[in-house]
Amino acid sequence: MHVSAEHARPRLAVIGSGRMGEALVRLLAPHREEVVWAGRDPERLQRTIDELGRVGVRPLGVRDAIDVSDVIVLALWHQHALEFVSEHRRPLQGKIIVDIANPFTEDFTDFTLPETTSAAEELAEAVPGAAVVGALKNTFWVVFDDPQFPEGESDILVTGDDQHAKERVMSVFSNLPFRVLDAGRLRNNRTIERMTLLSREIAIRYDHYPRTTWRLLGQAPAPVA
Ligand SMILES: NC(=O)c1ccc[n+]([C@@H]2O[C@H](COP(=O)([O-])OP(=O)(O)OC[C@H]3O[C@@H](n4cnc5c(N)ncnc54)[C@H](OP(=O)(O)O)[C@@H]3O)[C@@H](O)[C@H]2O)c1
Repeated sequence: MHVSAEHARPRLAVIGSGRMGEALVRLLAPHREEVVWAGRDPERLQRTIDELGRVGVRPLGVRDAIDVSDVIVLALWHQHALEFVSEHRRPLQGKIIVDIANPFTEDFTDFTLPETTSAAEELAEAVPGAAVVGALKNTFWVVFDDPQFPEGESDILVTGDDQHAKERVMSVFSNLPFRVLDAGRLRNNRTIERMTLLSREIAIRYDHYPRTTWRLLGQAPAPVA
């Protein structure tokens, strides 16, 4: 499958104006020339942008946001992400789609998908002409406002079956205050998505939810240039 995004810096869109969509835009905007932000209510987006006082965030309608972007982060629940790619299948051809969804039940006690698959794999199957990359599934929304922990930066686990698309997404996140790790194939989301629910349960038990995320210990330090 050919993915058309060949620019030095991929043009980035965030779809969705909920907790993750807004937190991501707040995090990304100072690190990029422009973040396109789309939701179903453009006036609501503009109000939020005005509150944030951000330059570099460009509110657009959903279809325009897809058309002008190479990498499209879906800050939507899994079921809505499936509906989204079904509705916009044609313009999404050749794009890189970043899936951040965890397939939790509404009461956050279980999963809506069996262990033999993942939200990321289901999304990829639903939009075969695009490259789906999984990322940001373990980081709860409040962490984006204050990403530094005493233990160090937390990890963004990036997964995908299209290595080129995965590397493009890793480059998008590379200058953020996180450690960006290549976490292998898309099917690894069967584990990654489950890690998030486990961390939620433990954080609630120890009274620090929703400020929780994951960091793998023991990784070799980056080589000194
Ligand atoms: N919350 C977290 O800490 C966290 C952490 C990691 C991953 N995630 C994942 O991130 C995703 C979003 O979570 P969230 O907490 O941000 O949820 P949220 O606050 O409920 O926001 C979801 C947003 O999706 C919008 N939406 C639904 N269908 C849409 C469509 N077809 N087109 C455009 N927008 C649409 C909703 O719009 P309306 O307001 O109009 O309904 C809402 O703004 C979920 O898949 C979740 O598993 C969340």
